[in-house]
Amino acid sequence: MIKTAIYPGSFDPLTNGHLDIICRASKLFDKLIVAVGNNETKKPAFTVQERICLIEKAVNHTIKSYNVEVKHFDGLLADFAYKMGADCVIKGLRAMSDFEYEFQMALLNKSLNPDVETLFMMTNVSYSYVSSSAVKEIAKNGGNIDGLVPDSIKNDILKKLYSV
Ligand code: COA
Repeated sequence: MIKTAIYPGSFDPLTNGHLDIICRASKLFDKLIVAVGNNETKKPAFTVQERICLIEKAVNHTIKSYNVEVKHFDGLLADFAYKMGADCVIKGLRAMSDFEYEFQMALLNKSLNPDVETLFMMTNVSYSYVSSSAVKEIAKNGGNIDGLVPDSIKNDILKKLYSV
């Protein structure tokens, strides 16, 4: 039986922390769906299509995992997981501060779709301080985002966010 996992997020934009989770999770499942959604409380800087293109480019360039698919989802994650026939939702944890929110989300998703487990993966310590907001703030102000985002998409991110 094919084991499918979903790695959901806003990915606004993808960071090296996200890519690290994608790489590691893709080795644990037959199929990994990177699900690009919108967090209702955030106003994204990149369109969904732009975010999908950045993820596809970085994944193809860096890890060449043929079992990774990138898809957009709307509505509830639990419904999307059901539609995709997923067994598991992967979430990355950077610090204890992520835990309370993610714990609540995992319980809500479990109550909405009891067939799907949430699996937490510890973010690589090298990226524990990275966030998409930090990347955006640095890039908008002309700072150096080397090492924070995949090299293959660095210029695309700067082009979008840094206009001189
Ligand atoms: N490395 C680096 N950064 C990471 C990371 C990692 N491994 N893991 C998480 N982050 C950061 C992200 O960069 C992001 O940073 P930001 O706040 O600066 O943008 C932050 O952690 C949150 O992650 P994000 O990917 O944006 O996820 P989210 O918590 O905003 O959730 C959805 C986005 C789409 C998955 C979520 O809103 C959702 O499930 N929506 C559907 C509706 C639903 O079903 N809700 C639940 C029931 S109410």
